[in-house]
Amino acid sequence: MTVLYGRPGLLGTVLELFAFGGKVGTSADTGFVFDPGRVSARLTRRFPAESIMFTHQSHLLHLLRSEHYTSEAHYRSELRHLFGPAWHPLATVGELARSGDFLTFDLLETPILVRNFDGELRAFLNVCPHRHSRLTDKARGHAEKLRCQYHGWEFNKEGGTGKIPDAKAFRPWDRENACLKRFRLETCGELVFVNLSDTGPALREWLDPVWEAWQSYGAGYRHAATWEADFPCNWKVVLENSLESYHMPEVHPRTLGPFPPEENAWHELSDRFSSFKTIPPRDFAARAQGWFVRRLGAPVTGGYWHRVVHPHVTGASMDAFRMLQCVFPTGPTTCRYRSILFTLRGARRGPLAWALYRVLRSIATRVARQVFAEDGAVYGGAQAGLAASPHAGVIGTREERIGSFQRYVLDTCRGRYELPLAERPAGGAAPPISEVPVGRPEPRA
Ligand code: FES
Ligand SMILES: [Fe+2]
Repeated sequence: MTVLYGRPGLLGTVLELFAFGGKVGTSADTGFVFDPGRVSARLTRRFPAESIMFTHQSHLLHLLRSEHYTSEAHYRSELRHLFGPAWHPLATVGELARSGDFLTFDLLETPILVRNFDGELRAFLNVCPHRHSRLTDKARGHAEKLRCQYHGWEFNKEGGTGKIPDAKAFRPWDRENACLKRFRLETCGELVFVNLSDTGPALREWLDPVWEAWQSYGAGYRHAATWEADFPCNWKVVLENSLESYHMPEVHPRTLGPFPPEENAWHELSDRFSSFKTIPPRDFAARAQGWFVRRLGAPVTGGYWHRVVHPHVTGASMDAFRMLQCVFPTGPTTCRYRSILFTLRGARRGPLAWALYRVLRSIATRVARQVFAEDGAVYGGAQAGLAASPHAGVIGTREERIGSFQRYVLDTCRGRYELPLAERPAGGAAPPISEVPVGRPEPRA
């Protein structure tokens, strides 16, 4: 795992061990017993009665076949149709606070440089128009001028050339071909998004269902850490894992514990967006979180909310933190997963509030990294199984957000690229599947 930015603290580590005993969100070590009835009673006060529980009553078709997770052709189709129009979260405003601060990324086979020019953030292709060198190989840095590392050409905030060593050697000057390629850049709260396409919706329109919620990144919450890792799997393996709570008891037995009962799980599904909301059991960890949140001067809701904007951006939130995660394909069977974590700073000021904020930040960062690593341990096996599977796969009602996501992938790529039907090996028995249309809610009795 590559830690890009982070400030873990010793005090936080000690308190984490004391407070959570390595067990977050479960109750066995704390003496507090999870009572679904109590949670349900709290739910009726917090969620509208008609909006709880799953949308489907029976399992769903697994619409994507193994080829969709392995084929070069489908990968190319996704780059064009899913990722070409998409907005990509790359950084926080705070990481580019000073004029001259810059960050670079390899985004979908495109080298990108994001830089602060006198308070204005701009994104350019990190390629020099002189003889194609990257402008810089550094992942981050600060420089008074945007200058190519090879022969020293300088560029302004419009991407035009400034000082050029021995400029007369380039007469007559081809101004049009001497500009950096610029990309669209917009912010949502503290989050910096870049779009590789010159056309298409603005960021606010793209993020419509989550725009207001994601403004809170930075408002009352401060950037705590960013980390990323490369995984040997198709990007959809990672995304689909993040869309279901079904794996929690197996993959996160000590950090997250059992999945919530259906009456405490609320799903919202649409073509480009889905969300999951629950109220975790009010165990020791939840009480500890509430204690910190109150003392930092913020309201305690006790809820957990996970949202995805298709194809690849998710946001998770509790009172104590906000976390944006984005998975970028780097090939048909490889991807890069990035997490940007914000923790509550709250409204209170003074030495005590500052110390509590630091402790909470340390705890949340350690727990989030641990959960990230636990998920990371299963991706390789999931990809290897996909490549060899004779089965069609099946999606349970608890996993129904994956059904919406798979429908989105197929619909968006459809018409321009179609995979041939998978040839199943003789004797390869597919599990029984229902005819419930994916993505269309089945009315509950
Ligand atoms: S390649 Fe950039 S100045 Fe020559
Ligand atoms: Fe997980």
